[in-house]
Amino acid sequence: SGYLAATQSVGSVVQLEEPVSKEVTVLYGSQTGNAQKMAEKAGEALKSRGFHVTVSSMLEFKPNDLKKINTLLIVVSTYGEGEPPDNALAFYEFLHSKRAPKLNHLRFSVLALGDTSYEHFCKTGKDFDKRLEELGGKRLYERVDCDVDYEEAAAKWLDGVLSELDKQGAVSVAAPQPTQAQPTALYSRKHPFEAEVLENINLNGRGSNKETRHIELSLEGSGLTFAPGDALGIFPKNDPELVDLIIQEMRWDPETPVSIDQEEEPLREALLSRLEITLLTEPLLQKLAEFSKNRDFHALLSAEQEAKRKEYMKGRDVLDVLRDFGPWEMTPEQFVSFLRKLQPRFYSIANSLLAYPDEVHVTIGAVRYEAHGRLRKGVCSTFCAERLHIGDKLPVFVHQNPNFKLPKDPSTPIIMVGPGTGVAPFRAFMQEREAVGAKGKSWLFFGDQHFVTDFLYQTEWQTWLKNGVLTKMDVAFSRDTAEKVYVQHRMLEQSKELFRWLEEGAAIYVCGDKQHMARDVHQTLIDIIAKEGNMTSEQAEAYVADMQKQKRYQRDVY
Ligand code: 2AM
Repeated sequence: SGYLAATQSVGSVVQLEEPVSKEVTVLYGSQTGNAQKMAEKAGEALKSRGFHVTVSSMLEFKPNDLKKINTLLIVVSTYGEGEPPDNALAFYEFLHSKRAPKLNHLRFSVLALGDTSYEHFCKTGKDFDKRLEELGGKRLYERVDCDVDYEEAAAKWLDGVLSELDKQGAVSVAAPQPTQAQPTALYSRKHPFEAEVLENINLNGRGSNKETRHIELSLEGSGLTFAPGDALGIFPKNDPELVDLIIQEMRWDPETPVSIDQEEEPLREALLSRLEITLLTEPLLQKLAEFSKNRDFHALLSAEQEAKRKEYMKGRDVLDVLRDFGPWEMTPEQFVSFLRKLQPRFYSIANSLLAYPDEVHVTIGAVRYEAHGRLRKGVCSTFCAERLHIGDKLPVFVHQNPNFKLPKDPSTPIIMVGPGTGVAPFRAFMQEREAVGAKGKSWLFFGDQHFVTDFLYQTEWQTWLKNGVLTKMDVAFSRDTAEKVYVQHRMLEQSKELFRWLEEGAAIYVCGDKQHMARDVHQTLIDIIAKEGNMTSEQAEAYVADMQKQKRYQRDVY
């Protein structure tokens, strides 16, 4: 890979001649908060060793200050199809432009967060790493690329960076400051809370194409808190039917013990609740190949057949591979060692603690589709729809999202765009604003397929509209009319008013589908601003970028 070539040519460690400073800047680009959390952790570790640390979002960092700093740590995630997170975009573009300064004085290290199930794994981090070197920077410590379970790799990176700084004599002579005792949450991703299910209902009416579950969980006794805009991590279980098909296909004994994290568990149990079985990744296929002599499989894994392989992986899972490319000579123990740990799934929280103390609500759309002759099911969404009952315990934890927060000032107007399950956090926003008696205006754009069956939380919105918590509501039901209407069409119809709200300082929030909706809404926003503000599209884009900088345009898209 490009990464190896780069480290081989420069070496991973540099010794600088100049006296090294104790100043370290940590910049993060973060969509859902993981990179930010990691950057803050690095900042704390450095501070406790006597460094002067600045931890900042790339958005808030003045790019020209690059010339003034000599140690830079970057923690950045990759989003969607290889894009930088929203708050990294401007800095990313600046650094890759001709305006970027020479950085011969700079030493740096990059921690890249990503997901190996995406084609452009850790692309943003890789790009920063490469570009900083091109601009003359010296790599303080090799870049580390993390998969979704990033904690361990990230901790290694931080250790590596710290020990390089030590070696290079940058450590302060001052005694390390005691780290302040942080109030650590009792329950976390590592130690999820077993929340009791209080409610689990389908929000869609009979005849709908959709099934959207409204789930209420008890947080009593957990000490867990959250703010509107935060997400809930949920650990699901795999579909027992799929697990049994895998075991049957391989003619294994479901009770064979296998080891997961150095502990023995029956195979069936491990496949049900510990491992990912619906996801194909390149590394998984490569490992499986060692246990199959199937020629077609080996051909598929060759460099020449990359395109065909990508095509094959789309919409297929582990069972398909086992069926398509036997015979296998593989033990259950080997098989499970190749699978990734079952990851939690994240859902925007749909309630405010002020309205429902000790409860957390989520809105989950069941994902089901037919592909390659089999019904495919989203792991967590169909677990919640089909196998989660009132009284059950569900392992959960809170994931803070600092990038999707109500304005600090409750009198700031807000515009909320949330079609489908994207409406969830706005239910939390309204509950919160009602509870604190916020004076700010609010405007909801909601859309879904059919008014009669798919108007999620309809009566709640209508109550808020009546009592003034919600000022304005526009809905777009795409399949009730001959021609499709989407939320962005409703925005455009109201462009004058919408622009007036923006000029009055409104913050705009977009939640829901990333690939189509968020992109189209973004473009519509630019169009509205250009039209109503008499601007060129460049000026309108700058207007939007400025809103982003002021945190008046925030997105929670997936
Ligand atoms: P559709 O399924 O009829 O195309 C929530 O899922 C709603 O979002 C549905 O009404 C869906 O319409 C709509 N939707 C689909 N693509 C969209 C897009 N590009 N922009 C906005 N809404 C979209």
